[in-house]
Amino acid sequence: MKRRKFIRNTAIGLGVAAIPKSVGAAAMNNLIRHAGGSPLVISSGNGFEAAAKAMEMIQNGSDAIDAVIAGVNIVEDDPNDTTVGFGGLPNEDGIVELDSCCMHGPTHNAGAVASIRNIKNPSKVAKLVMERTDHVLLVGEGALRFAKAHGFKEENLLTDKAREIWLKWKETLNDKDNWFAPGQNEFPTMQEKAKGMTGTITCIAIDKNNNISGVTTTSGLAFKIPGRVGDSPIIGAGLYVDNEVGACGSTGRGEENLKNLSCFLAVEEMRKGADPEKACEEAVNRIVHHAKVPTILNKKGLPNFNVSFYALNKNGAFGAASLYGPITYVAHNGETNQKLQGKYLYEWSKMSD
Ligand code: GLY
Repeated sequence: MKRRKFIRNTAIGLGVAAIPKSVGAAAMNNLIRHAGGSPLVISSGNGFEAAAKAMEMIQNGSDAIDAVIAGVNIVEDDPNDTTVGFGGLPNEDGIVELDSCCMHGPTHNAGAVASIRNIKNPSKVAKLVMERTDHVLLVGEGALRFAKAHGFKEENLLTDKAREIWLKWKETLNDKDNWFAPGQNEFPTMQEKAKGMTGTITCIAIDKNNNISGVTTTSGLAFKIPGRVGDSPIIGAGLYVDNEVGACGSTGRGEENLKNLSCFLAVEEMRKGADPEKACEEAVNRIVHHAKVPTILNKKGLPNFNVSFYALNKNGAFGAASLYGPITYVAHNGETNQKLQGKYLYEWSKMSD
């Protein structure tokens, strides 16, 4: 398989003003690498507050699984993040369907829900599936009934903001139907779609006992066919944890992670000795290598989607890599919570070529 050269853009002014020019991921990696036992939280770029919350809980003695789930609950509850939980963009019928999974390193146990409606914290339900059932994954109606049995309240997850974006999509979808748009110039470009509409949050952490856990949660692909399930609730695709090795979480086009079991691959790369950043690069490489279907390629033969990986290992090294960039991600080492730049294969502008 062809090895590709990844880029790290160290320029500032990319929406990551909090990062001193000299502190890339590698630099911070060196600062925080440790022999184990020191807490660490890594999250996708939308997880700054999530990482802060998770670290606070870990420092107060929480298990990493409780900490990362409490962290991502902040984003699930946020109506302004249209890629996760409450306020997530709906399916093609205008109904929000959520996916999530979590994995607990010390027990190598996992739980997940897919296509769950009307419950804004699917990550909490995923943890209950892990702890209170003999199963790993519940879907749709069964997941909703399970959540209600545990006291979760149903609520309408479609915010006005998400409904208006969905309506605009519906009205501009097809010029042969009966839906008319007031104007088409505000519809997101392909790049904006790829950046924002397959958002998702993933958060992985090491706690004070040197145990690793993680969670991924999403509203999935915007305007998906009802019942579509992405990578986020699938162990090995959108998240994988091995307590002896490390963890990897992912955001971006789930279909490709499902076809490549990318997070499992990244953890296996770390098991073989790759550092977390290289393991993430390998996951990206594998996706590019296998991207052959014409519908997922642009005119130049490059993938027309993005996918990003975030990983840490048992020693506290970490990194991130994506297909297109620059992208930012978050790392909290117990002292500082920083937005960092991951490596990437191609500039954003190449995606729509
Ligand atoms: N990675 C989120 C999704 O594709 O559903």
